[in-house]
Amino acid sequence: MARLKVFKRKKIEGIDDSVYLSLREERRISRNNNRIIKRFEREKARKNVPEKEYLTVMRDPGNVVEFEDLHTYFFTDVGTVKAVNGVSFDVPQGKIVGVVGESGCGKSVTSLSLMQLVQAPTGQIVAGSIRYKASDGKVYEITQMPKDQMLKIRGKEIAMIFQEPMTSLNPVFKVGEQLDEVLLVHEEVKSDAEAKKRSIDMLKLVGIADCEKIYGNYPHELSGGMRQRVMIAMALSCNPRLVIADEPTTALDVTIQAQILELLREIKDKYEGSIMFITHDLGVIAEMADYVVVMYAGRIVEQGTVREIFHHPKHPYTIGLMKSKPGGETVGDRLYSIRGQVPNPINMPDHCYFCNRCDQAMPICHELYPGMTHFNEHHATACFLFGDEILQEEEVMESIR
Ligand SMILES: Nc1ncnc2c1ncn2[C@@H]1O[C@H](COP(=O)(O)OP(=O)(O)O)[C@@H](O)[C@H]1O
Ligand SMILES: [Mg+2]
Repeated sequence: MARLKVFKRKKIEGIDDSVYLSLREERRISRNNNRIIKRFEREKARKNVPEKEYLTVMRDPGNVVEFEDLHTYFFTDVGTVKAVNGVSFDVPQGKIVGVVGESGCGKSVTSLSLMQLVQAPTGQIVAGSIRYKASDGKVYEITQMPKDQMLKIRGKEIAMIFQEPMTSLNPVFKVGEQLDEVLLVHEEVKSDAEAKKRSIDMLKLVGIADCEKIYGNYPHELSGGMRQRVMIAMALSCNPRLVIADEPTTALDVTIQAQILELLREIKDKYEGSIMFITHDLGVIAEMADYVVVMYAGRIVEQGTVREIFHHPKHPYTIGLMKSKPGGETVGDRLYSIRGQVPNPINMPDHCYFCNRCDQAMPICHELYPGMTHFNEHHATACFLFGDEILQEEEVMESIR
């Protein structure tokens, strides 16, 4: 067999080439990944798992969801992407929790972990807990739940509104058929006629005037705003206790965005549900959320009530985000932007991830990762400016090797 000729690449100034690997190294990573992935997949495929293995108790009974030290990794051929790396926060009953952060910081992967929809086999929840309090009063440990049990919760109790409705609606089925299917699969209704009636009611609820006609349309016949409304109708049709809205208005224009947000809020109040609202738009968060979680590179850098985060932000990244928001003091000036880039997700440093972009970085920031400093029950930040807590993390990679 012909041997591959390997050219030695010259190092180019300023370019991080740490992700370029030799063939041999790539094979070694791939072999290792296969071994780890197989173990996780075997665990997930178990049948007839006794319920007591995935039943647990809430830390605070007022919460619907509790994330605790969640780690979700992607085992790719170029290395392990620690997309969510030790995230802990709660979603209280009847409240809206906003999750913010720039693209790629792990917002979607956090929510997909809760739905058990992380792209397997490369993506795996490797450590931590996600506790969910179901309507029957039982508390489930989502990370341990078998796939067949998850089907009872997903879509019925926890619903998700995705960013781009065109990719989530099936183009070859009419809107009505897709809405009916949700109701029939989850046994909310007994007959097709009943399903049709409920679907049309749902379309009316989300503010579609011509609902009988829309019911018979294909997704491509609708505008973006209409499609997003259909997605919301579908998500809410089984009266979920928790809605995950993953950038639900990013693909829409501003007037439609305002209407959709209003609609979500109204519906939440009507059903007394909770919403986990994911966005990179701080304006939307200010309007919608009760609590805010600020993520950066797979970790939470600050969390608190919306008032604390907007009026008393502590972490330099949160302060930067606030400054880079259009409007307010920046009218007429150039918009502020946080210099630099998020570190390469494959080789995360073991010091603060933000220090190279931070104006207030101290020597310790380049050496260690800060732990959470708590200001009160809700408000906390991971920054050495406010305390000398050091993140004591057990090496997750070691434990799964
Ligand atoms: N299927 C995948 N395979 C490999 N890496 C992924 C995959 N999905 C997401 N990631 C990585 O996980 C990180 C977080 O992604 P994501 O949660 O989608 O970000 P966002 O905050 O924009 O929603 C990113 O670095 C992304 O590259
Ligand atoms: Mg996303």
